[in-house]
Parts: sequence; C-alpha cells; structure tokens
Amino acid sequence: MDVHLVILAAGKGTRMKSALAKVLHRVAGLPMIDHVLATAATVNPRSRTVVIGHQALIVQVALAGNEGLTFVVQEPQLGTAHALLTTELALRNAKGTVVLLSGDVPLLSPATLKTLLQRHQTTGAAATVLTAIVDDPHSYGRVVRTGEQIARIVEEKDASPAEREIREINSGIYAFALDGLFDAVRSIAAQNSQNEYYLPDLVGIYRQRGLGVETVTVSNPDEIRGINSRLELAEVSRIVRQQKTTELMAEGVTIEDPATAYIDRDVTIGRDTVIHPVVSIEGHTTIGSGCEIHSGTRIVDSTIGDRVTVFNHCVITNSRLGDDAHVGPFAHLRNDADVREHARVGNFVELKKTVLGAGSKSMHLAYLGDATIGNKVNIGAGTITCNYDGEKKNRTVIEDGAFIGSDTQLIAPVTVGKGAYVGSGTTIRENVPPDALAVSAGKQRNIENWVTNRKKK
Ligand code: UD1
Ligand code: CA
Repeated sequence: MDVHLVILAAGKGTRMKSALAKVLHRVAGLPMIDHVLATAATVNPRSRTVVIGHQALIVQVALAGNEGLTFVVQEPQLGTAHALLTTELALRNAKGTVVLLSGDVPLLSPATLKTLLQRHQTTGAAATVLTAIVDDPHSYGRVVRTGEQIARIVEEKDASPAEREIREINSGIYAFALDGLFDAVRSIAAQNSQNEYYLPDLVGIYRQRGLGVETVTVSNPDEIRGINSRLELAEVSRIVRQQKTTELMAEGVTIEDPATAYIDRDVTIGRDTVIHPVVSIEGHTTIGSGCEIHSGTRIVDSTIGDRVTVFNHCVITNSRLGDDAHVGPFAHLRNDADVREHARVGNFVELKKTVLGAGSKSMHLAYLGDATIGNKVNIGAGTITCNYDGEKKNRTVIEDGAFIGSDTQLIAPVTVGKGAYVGSGTTIRENVPPDALAVSAGKQRNIENWVTNRKKK
C-alpha cells in the first residue's frame, strides 16, 4: 500500500522566543526537521509533503537539498487540522495511507514508525495514533480511553482536572487511511480554548462514527519528545548526543566523559580512538582508529586518518589529517588544510589551503596559507607565507627536504627548491634553487660599549 508522508512545519514556535523558525533550530548539528525527514525516508514514502507557513521561504530554502519534497503553504496557521487540510490538493490523486509527522518531534525512530504503519495497515483502521506513557504529561494532548479503546484526545488547555491526571499522551504522529480523510478533517470545529482546528479531534469524530481507531504506545517515551521551548531543545539535544556516544562506545571508541562529548549524528569514529572530555566533533567528520583527541578541541567536516593525535585546544575545519599525524596544542587548521602522514603541527600554527607533506614539521608559531609543502620539510618558528598582496592570494611552494629557518617570510608567489636552506630571519622574494642557501639579512654590526656610553650621558 502507498504511503504518503505529511510533515507539519508551519507553526510559529512562539514558546521558542526566536527570530528563527522552530523547525530550523539545530539538534546535534542538524535542523530538527532534518532528523524528521531522515526517519521519514525509511518507510519509502510515495510522496513527501511539508506544510510550511511561518517563515515559509526560509524553511523551504533550508530544505532545498532534499529532493522530491512538495511544499504547501498554510497561511494563516489555524491549527494542526487546518494544516493537514492544506495538503488536500497535493494529495488529490493519492491512495493508501497518510503518515503525519511533526517537524518538532525529531527523535522518532525508524523502528517505531514502521510499527505504527504495520499496525495501521494490518488492522485496516481509519486512524492509528502513536501514544506514550510519560511521567510528566504537561503540555501534551491526553489520550482518553473508554475501557481499552481510545475515545478521544483532549488538549491540556481544554482538559478537566481529572483528564489532566492522564499520563498517556498524544505524540502528534499518526497514520490515516486517505479514503474520506479530508472530508472528516473538514468537519473539525475550532470550538476550544485556543480557537484552533485541532487534528486530534479527528479521533473523537471517527470513534463517534464507529470507525476503527488504533493506538501504538512507544516503549521509549523519549522518542516522541516534542520541542516547544529552548529547555526542551537542550533536553532533546542531550538525548541525541547520549545515543550517539552510546553507539560509538558500543563500537569500540573510548569516550572519557560522554556528558561533555558533543558528537554530531553523521560523525564516524574508528576503534580504540580515545575522546577526552569537552570535545566537539561536528558535521561530516570521519576519524580513524587508534586516534587520541584531547580536551578543548573542535573538529568540523574533516577527515582524520588512523593513529592521529590532536592535542588540546585545536580548531580543525574542512581539513584532512593523514595517518600518524600530530597536531597541536593550540593549532588552527582550516579551509583545506591537508596534513599528510607522520607530519607534525605544533602550537600556534595556522594552516589554510595548505598541504604539509609526509613527515614535515611546523612546530611553533607559523602561518602557512596557500602553500604546497613537500615531504620532510622543516618549517622554523615564526615562518610566515605572505600569500596576500592586497589584491589576490598567491601560492608558496616548498619542495621536499627543504629547511626554512626561523622568522622567515616567504613573499608569494615563490618556490624554495628541493633540499634548499633558508637562513633565519630571511625575507624570500625570489625563488631559491634546489640545494642552495638563501639569506637576506645584512651583515651583523656590533658597536662596542654602546650601553656603557649611553648610561654615562
Ligand atoms: C500537538 C498536539 C498534541 C500533542 C503534541 C505532541 C494538536 C492540537 N495538539 O500539540 O495533542 O500532544 O502536538 O507534540 O495538534 N503546526 C502547523 N500549523 C498550525 C499549527 C501547528 O503546521 O497551524 C505544526 C507546528 O509547526 C508543529 C506541529 O504542527 O510542527 C505541532 O504544533 P504545536 O503547536 O507544536 O502543537 P502542540 O501544542 O505541541
Ligand atoms: Ca509541539
């Protein structure tokens, strides 16, 4: 049977108190709606429709990378039932099942979604509601049952004191038979404390008509946590991080303090890598096995080989580190820095669009930008590639085995040949031939007794 997916994401998210649409707030590095879309994809839906409204254009642009999404605009936003009604035209030829997800419920697991769908399709129900039993049902719609059967759902604001005691809540996730769905949704009235069209009212309507309404109760209520406030955003983010660190540890990664390891969903880490406390590993980062990542380090969208050590307080973005490389403490690698195997980068060294060849070293205080540095090169302390002439960026090439003395400036474009030496304090303006020694500083002059004479005056 066809599955058509509808994701509600038009609401304002008033309780977030934010200029940014709620569904674009990030959970573990990804907009929360991206988590919903990823789970949704696992049921191979025939179509995916996203209802947008508040900041419609911004949300649509943010989701542009997802192929095959249909956007419908709900304007004004009159409630969740009204939101579903806006998809009627988009789904006019659709048959089968609608699975309705909320853009603000990002932790739903593919397994639970599958269970919901299976229950719905095997029972042939008109609607199937995903529910949960929670300790604190505050702010959720409550599931009112007569005997075993679900009778209706009542929103907290409309619930009687007795109904508020109910701990079974509506997740806001449902499966509906498409047949007759929109006609039934149209019959929902906005007679409630918020004057909104509540989709959960459909349950009561169906039951009164004697139609089948089923429920599936999740075993882990965390899965259906909705995000309505910054506090809930932080709580849900913590749950996602915890899942990720638990998964990684099960795969053989040592995480010294899972509570302070911030590891995004799409990160992969190999066995026997050790992650020290307070480390942030973000985006599409891959770390090999046997690595050690020390505290205070942030790694974003980077690829790190095996047996790499990153000492404390490094920032590494869009970069690569080869096997057995050592970096830091206090190094900054960005924008296509490429540190090859066995190379070493020390403290207060910045690399940008630079290859540091295998076994090469830059141990202290350097800026290496737009440079191609060969293998087994030694870069002295205080070396600077002067890559910017005020108009454009120019490249510096340093060939294999070269030795760059401390406090050297390389005015790019310039090449230092294979095995060449550059004396300390040299300003390189012209190419250095292979095996040559380049020096630019003038001869040293000592003025005898200069200090003694000054003191006499
Ligand atoms: C909703 C349910 C509640 C359930 C809870 C679970 C209703 C009336 N209540 O409450 O029973 O326990 O979810 O998290 O449905 N939206 C639109 N258009 C609108 C209104 C909302 O697209 O006009 C979207 C929102 O962007 C959000 C989702 O629908 O993604 C849910 O809306 P929200 O206002 O957060 O509903 P809750 O009060 O959480
Ligand atoms: Ca909500």
